[in-house]
Amino acid sequence: MSSPAQLSRRTFLSTAAAATVADLVVGNRLSAEESLSTQTVTSPTADPVRQAPVFVSTWDFGRVANEKAMATLAAGGDMLDAIEQGIRETEVDADNHSVGFGGTPNADGVVQLDACIMNHLYNAGSVAAIEDILHPISVARLVMERTKHVMLAGAGARKFALEQGIEPTEMLTEERRQKWQQWLKTQQEMSLEESHDTIALVGCGTDGTLSGGCSTSGWGYKLAGRVGDSPIIGSGLYVDGQVGAAGATGLGENVMRYCGSFQVVEFMARGATPEEACIETVLSMGRKDPLPLKDMSLNFVAVDRFGRYGGAGSDAGFRYSVTTVEGSQSSDAVTVQE
Ligand code: GLY
Repeated sequence: MSSPAQLSRRTFLSTAAAATVADLVVGNRLSAEESLSTQTVTSPTADPVRQAPVFVSTWDFGRVANEKAMATLAAGGDMLDAIEQGIRETEVDADNHSVGFGGTPNADGVVQLDACIMNHLYNAGSVAAIEDILHPISVARLVMERTKHVMLAGAGARKFALEQGIEPTEMLTEERRQKWQQWLKTQQEMSLEESHDTIALVGCGTDGTLSGGCSTSGWGYKLAGRVGDSPIIGSGLYVDGQVGAAGATGLGENVMRYCGSFQVVEFMARGATPEEACIETVLSMGRKDPLPLKDMSLNFVAVDRFGRYGGAGSDAGFRYSVTTVEGSQSSDAVTVQE
């Protein structure tokens, strides 16, 4: 696992340990004519020995989700079961104000939730701006497994959930309702730190099977109907069963403009380790965007098919959690700044 560090583009390129793979992902940048999709999976050396199962998630609170995922796997569940059950733990935590029950509502005082799930076979399901549903991650899985669609939104997503036998739940807690009423008096925008603590959970099973999921109540006091990066396949989450999986937390409006998680996976496909792929994705966005990286809130976790993992982001306070058969730990991710 990486030690706390701050990286700029220059220090990343000059880091000796990163040099060989950095040559692949930075020095050997694809020309405009080349398509990412035409690149083959390459590894600079022999394949590393797989160290799995492993679950990696955003923030310290992800640890509980990781551990539930690991327990689900140990009890005979598959990787998708593990991801779903792990995220459900976070969704019921009323003290987490940016995911599920107890999440911060939109400007109208309604909790609208986004979630998605994806497996190693490029199957995906997603719900956006869904209301009154305790476990959006489970509805996302139902969309994947029981419909011909990938994504359902708003009233249609809620209707589908109820038709599947899910009971509606009031998701606005009294504590959040009072906070919202206070907010109505000033309507001051929430800070990034207060507002964007999505759970993204990715994992690699013992045999290298990859899966991932993502769930959030999104930007606190957002406009009704706003959808962030979290339910968008390729933005808040992406899984390529041949390569790796990545998930995002941060400001959805910025992550989704660059298909952040897809980029992380593509950097891994071209030889980067998960940590290097997260770093390079943040740097790539920073190079293109007029905003300074420090204001973009772009944070990623990733795992590859060998069970290697990492995290990096533009937020100095971004942390992530890892669980292996040996236990769990939460630590600072690499901070990437200009
Ligand atoms: N990353 C969560 C959101 O912006 O909604």
